[in-house]
Formats: sequence, structure tokens, C-alpha cells
Amino acid sequence: MKKRIPADFVIGAASSAWQTEGWMGKKEGQDSYLDSWYKQERFVWHEGYGPAVATNFYEKFQDDVDFMKEIGLTHYRTSINWARFFTDYENCVVDEDYAQHIDDLIDALLDAGVEPMLCLEHYEMPTFLQEKYDGWSSKEVVELFVRYAEIAFDRYGDRVKQWFTFNEPVVIQTRVYLDAIRWPHEQNTKKWMQWNHHKVLATAKVVRLFHEKEMDGRIGIILNPEVTYPRSSSEADQKAAHLYDLFFNRVYLDPLVKGAYPEELLELLEKQGVLFDHTEEELAVIKDNPVDFLGINLYYPKRVQAPRYEWNKDTPFHPEMYYDPFELPGRRMNKSRGWEIYPQMMYDMAMRIKEEYGNIPWLITENGMGIEGEERFQDDQGMVQDDYRIDYIRDHLSALLDAVEDGSSCEGYMLWAFTDCVSPMNAFKNRYGLVRIELDEERTRKLKKSGLWYKEIIENRVLEVEEITDK
Ligand code: BG6
Repeated sequence: MKKRIPADFVIGAASSAWQTEGWMGKKEGQDSYLDSWYKQERFVWHEGYGPAVATNFYEKFQDDVDFMKEIGLTHYRTSINWARFFTDYENCVVDEDYAQHIDDLIDALLDAGVEPMLCLEHYEMPTFLQEKYDGWSSKEVVELFVRYAEIAFDRYGDRVKQWFTFNEPVVIQTRVYLDAIRWPHEQNTKKWMQWNHHKVLATAKVVRLFHEKEMDGRIGIILNPEVTYPRSSSEADQKAAHLYDLFFNRVYLDPLVKGAYPEELLELLEKQGVLFDHTEEELAVIKDNPVDFLGINLYYPKRVQAPRYEWNKDTPFHPEMYYDPFELPGRRMNKSRGWEIYPQMMYDMAMRIKEEYGNIPWLITENGMGIEGEERFQDDQGMVQDDYRIDYIRDHLSALLDAVEDGSSCEGYMLWAFTDCVSPMNAFKNRYGLVRIELDEERTRKLKKSGLWYKEIIENRVLEVEEITDK
């Protein structure tokens, strides 16, 4: 069966600064959180690879842009590395070399007919701000972020029309302060929620600034809400899913789209003694400045059930008190990454945005398949025959196109990632790209079969999907 891809439906690809650029030209004191974590705990990074060389995009971006041109890619999303953008974060002294690199990248993309979309923070908070202000714990950092945003808008806003404040703002503090599985392993639930609030506030302030400056374009945020499915129809399982959704999804979706945190969330935070410090004025800024649009990263469904054991009262509060993860027997898996594959979640997310969030304009800003040992699939010419990736993209895109048919305001699909790149800890273990990166000194690049397939769907605007038959 053939599905038509609407002419204005974006088929793009994404990446981020720290996962591609490498440290070439990086100056003393310009570490981001990710750089510092890598330096502190290199042993947890797969085979020792990390942000140091990455794909050497800083030097080789033109090669990637040439591939984009070759396949007719129309949109590419990456980030500005905040930690490298300044030589002095408090006085906002721009690093002209790095800023010029972003200029050159934007110009190269535009020359190749690719629209650049920029995110201001994809985990690249400067370590300096972490050390001096305890990162997003501080309201100073909120103000410094707004100043950074203004400088970026002034410098690149003539050519960049689609902006995002953060990529997956919940992630870093969840891993570091809630689960405490990442350096520096500090368990601090209140800090987790304070960081969430300050990122919501920073977004609202940057949205206000963008509109006050009458920038040409739009400003949003990239969230990773997980479509949360309860194990069963039991009241206890339904409640577990409801609460998971409240703590990890609605904590951003509600204030940023509807202008207010859910009352129920505030009550539970209060009850658990982890309500964030805030003022009425901050809540008013959030209320008055919802985002223009959303990017949604979606890789796997989240399945939960009611907790099976009593909570250990000696451990600090964690929303896990209210749920246990659930593994559906028989589920389809990406075994390299340990993530369930469930394309229906695309449709379900789209309908939720339509029904509960006013059908705000949005697009999939990440979805993709990281596979280990892709060299196994290289043919005689070295081209990775990644049919599994083509199937994965096809299934997810197909579900999204059905949602568009049913009135979803989804505007597009952007694959993670354009080239293979470095993942937190997994580094180059799982490959995501349409373009393969060899780990030789040159970081040699080669288009995969999926790259050619992507070219075809971009050109023809048709998706061939298999009919589901009884076998
Ligand atoms: C997203 C992030 O959560 O998932 C990316 O925005 C990340 O930065 C991607 O690389 C894939 O996940 P992972 O852990 O396999 O890199």
C-alpha cells in the first residue's frame, strides 16, 4: 500500500553539537557538563570514546552538508554548544572562533538548500556554571541563559527561523539527581524538581524575549514525553501510569503549553517535601509565555504497573514510589539499545496533543534506531545494508501519517541522527545515522542504504507500506 507524504510535511534529520563536533579549537575552561562527566568517569563510556573527537564535525561539517545535499534533505536540527559559545559566561563574552563556526555551518546548510533549526542547550551547560552556581539550581543561571539566547538570536536570527530552548530538559537532572546513576551521583529529589522548574522558567523568559524582539520565526522546546501505557485495566495500574505521566511528562507539557503546572503535581511535591522554590511572579511569566511549537522525541513506549513492594522509607522520595516498570511479554525489541519498538505510540502521542494540548503545532524531532556492530551489514563497497532501519522508520512514519490524516497538527519527522554520533556513555556502540562514521583518524563517512532510501521518500513523497495480513 502507498501512503502519500503531504508536500509540506518535513522529512529531516537531527543531531547535537556535543555529539558531533569534537574538541578541536575548544579553549581552556570551555567544558560542558558532558565533557566533565567524560573526563571524570571515562570508564563508563563505551570503549573510551566520547565527546573528545566525536565525528570531528567542527572540521568536517562540509562533508556532512554535502551528503545532505546529495539526498535532498530539507531540514537539519543541531545545537549551539553554550559551553563553547563564550569565553566568559557571566559577562557573555562571545568566543568569536566558535561563533564563526556556527555562522559557517548555517551558511553551508543554506547553500545546500537545508533549513537549519537550532537548539540552545542539548546538555551543554557550561561546567563553570555548574561549579559556581550549582547549575540550574540557581536563578542567576536562568538569567544568563536568557542573555545567551538574546546574543544567539541577534547573531543568527537573520538566517535561522526555528529555535528551541532545550533538548529533553528533564534528562540530565533525572539521571544525576533523581536516579543518581551519573556523575556526580548526588541523590537530591528537590534539586531535580528545582532544575525542572528553572528550565521551564528559562523557556518562558526566552519565549517572551523572542516575541518582544519581534523575531522573524518561532520558538519552542524539544520534549521527550513518554507515551505511558498501564499494564492492565486495574485501577492500581491506571493510577501508576497517571502518576508517571504527571511527574515526567506533564511536568513540562502543562506549564509550557497550557501555562500552569498541574495542581495535583504541586500537591504531591508539597506532600513529599520537594516542592521547588518559586514566586508568584515566576508562575505569571510561565502563564503568559507558552511556546509557539513543540519538538517531540519519541523512541519507545513506557509501560508501567502498580508498585509490587512497599516503598523503603529510608530512601529519599522518588516518583518510583508510585509505579514499577512493566515489560510486556512478546514485545518487539531493539536489543542493541534495550528499547521496545512500538510504532503505534506515534499515533497515540499525536492524538494526545490534539485532544489535550489544543493541537499545538509540533513535529517529531527525534526517532531512530541505534544498532550495535553495523559493520556486519557492510557490503563489498562498504555500504551498510540497514534494512532494519528502513523498516523502523517506515513503521513509525506510517503511524504518524495516519495521525495527520486524522487531524493531527504534526508537521514532520526528523530522524536521529543524520550521521552516526556519540551517545552518552554508549558512545559509538549503537549506530543511528543515515551516514556511517568509521572510527579511523579521518572519521571517514559513507552513506548507508537507509540514506538512499531517505532520498527516495524525500523526492517521491510516497511511503510504501506492507499490508498487514493474517498468516
Ligand atoms: C535522545 C537524545 O534522548 O536520544 C540524544 O536527545 C540521544 O542526545 C538519543 O543521543 C539516542 O539515545 P542514546 O542514549 O542511544 O544516545
